[in-house]
Amino acid sequence: MIWRPFTQEKTTPEAIKIIKGDGLYLYTKNGTRYADMISSWWVNIHGHANKEIADAISEQAHKLEQVIFTAFCHEPAEKLVDNLKTVLPKSLNKFFFSDNGSTSVEVALKMAYQFFKNQGNPDRKIYLHLEGSYHGDTYGAMSVSGKNSIYHFNFADFFFDTITISVPEFYEDIENIQQQEDDIIKDLERRLDSVGNNVCALIVEPLLQGARGMILYRPEFLEKLIKTVRHFNILVIFDEVMTGFYRTGKFFAMDYLNNDSTPDLICISKALTGGFLPLSLTITTEQIYNTFLSDDFSKSFIHGHSYTGNPIACAAACKSFEILTRKETINNIKNIETMHKNAIIDGVNKRRSIGVMTAFDLQSTQEANRITNELFKQGIFIRPLGKTIYLLPPYCITEDELNDVYKRIKQLI
Ligand SMILES: Cc1ncc(COP(=O)(O)O)c(C=O)c1O
Repeated sequence: MIWRPFTQEKTTPEAIKIIKGDGLYLYTKNGTRYADMISSWWVNIHGHANKEIADAISEQAHKLEQVIFTAFCHEPAEKLVDNLKTVLPKSLNKFFFSDNGSTSVEVALKMAYQFFKNQGNPDRKIYLHLEGSYHGDTYGAMSVSGKNSIYHFNFADFFFDTITISVPEFYEDIENIQQQEDDIIKDLERRLDSVGNNVCALIVEPLLQGARGMILYRPEFLEKLIKTVRHFNILVIFDEVMTGFYRTGKFFAMDYLNNDSTPDLICISKALTGGFLPLSLTITTEQIYNTFLSDDFSKSFIHGHSYTGNPIACAAACKSFEILTRKETINNIKNIETMHKNAIIDGVNKRRSIGVMTAFDLQSTQEANRITNELFKQGIFIRPLGKTIYLLPPYCITEDELNDVYKRIKQLI
């Protein structure tokens, strides 16, 4: 029997067997099709079963399927790094591979702590994180989601020390946002005055907190936050696992920020391979990398996974990158963004959009479930987050398809 993730097995209906995918759609054996409006947990940016990526995978599998990534390297990994360098700030130029979003976060947290330890300062043990954040399900990643996390509270007794920073939520019609932001920064400054020198890193989902319920906050706030923590020499980690690859309308969410706010480490995964294979990267600076160089092995970054830098996954990522940077794809992304911004949905709360993501809140979780269950009967798959309904379609969705989804949502509301 298959035990499903994030599922109360007792009350959730049996899983529906999917036999094939094609672009926006998933198909069952009897021909029922579902429009996957959340890109299967935010991974399939080009839709399902993209032929070009499937071919690239096949070609690579016939050449080299896997090789230990210590003594050996390979072309797909090198090409992927070269591709990413063209869209990253120059300072982020050291690339550490792992297999999923949670491990890329785990790597970043460990690197940040060891960066200080290798320089003779093992006392920076505290991490800063945003309220309600979600960075994955391993222990480090859970710790920086906070003890009250709706996902992780069962394990809170095991978490390491963190400081939680409030998030000034941004949505249509919000008032006094600047005041809220300034109050949060002032409060943080006060707290850091006493413990700032014991903090190693701040970790954030930049601009968009996904799993919390598609919560947005302003670039201006993040810039202020970074300035504040850098005053205490605290490192900055951007978890772009969800926001990367044009989800926010720019290649990375960090592209909305001024140059002084470039992070010291970033984590990417999810859409990296176009949703075909698990792969992730933690990318950091020369300055951090250099503190791990020593004649003493104990100062190395002693971390790795069996499938680190898998060549097939890297080949998929290279092809996905090529498709992503085509004019046609960029135009589609812009189109989706404009349609989200212009869509009018009456009778909902906290309308918010960024890039290809749009969200709104209903009165209750029950209401969100009622609407998404109805949509499912009509062949549209959306997974609400509490009372929040959001859309995060693949970039291949057409105007007609997106209009149809909007029409049905409006009818149900
Ligand atoms: C921002 C963020 N970080 C990390 C993760 C964890 O990624 P994974 O599920 O691949 O471990 C997620 C997953 O939703 C995420 O949204």
